[in-house]
Amino acid sequence: MGMQISPSVLNADLSRLSSEVERIAAVADWVHLDVMDNHFVPNLTFGLPVVESLLKHIDTPADCHLMIDDPGRWAPAYAEAGAGSVTFHVEATRAPVKVAKEIRAAGARVGVALKPATSIDAIAEVIRHVDMILVMTVEPGFGGQAFMEDMLPKVRAARRLADSSDADIWVQVDGGVGPGTIERAAFAGADVFVAGSSVFRSDDPAVMVEKLRAEAENAARP
Ligand code: DX5
Ligand code: ZN
Repeated sequence: MGMQISPSVLNADLSRLSSEVERIAAVADWVHLDVMDNHFVPNLTFGLPVVESLLKHIDTPADCHLMIDDPGRWAPAYAEAGAGSVTFHVEATRAPVKVAKEIRAAGARVGVALKPATSIDAIAEVIRHVDMILVMTVEPGFGGQAFMEDMLPKVRAARRLADSSDADIWVQVDGGVGPGTIERAAFAGADVFVAGSSVFRSDDPAVMVEKLRAEAENAARP
């Protein structure tokens, strides 16, 4: 797998979700859907009914990022609705292995996410059951924040952990990713890049997706 771009619609026009996804559909690898419950994070977006409806209208694989408490209650349903990847936060559950197994059993790739303050050690137990590690590079909850440079050591640690596994585990970064910051994240070992405002607030979101991928590929080349 090369470098993958997963535009987040958090800062797109949420009243026109499927047409916003259309703007990046030809070039994006995924569309990143930020589910927030106003408990795990101090913001509220959309939930399962909206994602289910959206998936009936788009072909782009959905990368669902669940910023919710009690992910075991909801995560498998996103997979059953057709999401290609479902990511839950390790901080949100006492049974991460169980949640991961249930997502996988429901047919999606499994991601496990870490907030900025959470150590990579928190996923030692669940790593054998996931397909992707999401290293948050902002405090989750809002788009448009600045990329946290001090998360780059954790991206490197996530890459080492992924590479120590026999499975092909991806390393995703999310928050403040755009021209410039994507290069540093790619150099540190990320290979899936969530980009919200940099894509949807640009004049041409599809052109920006291609630009970001090219920058990531250049940075990763030895
Ligand atoms: C933040 C979300 C991100 C957000 C990224 O909590 O998880 O996916 O949409 O937005 P930007 O790229 O603007 O930081
Ligand atoms: Zn996200």
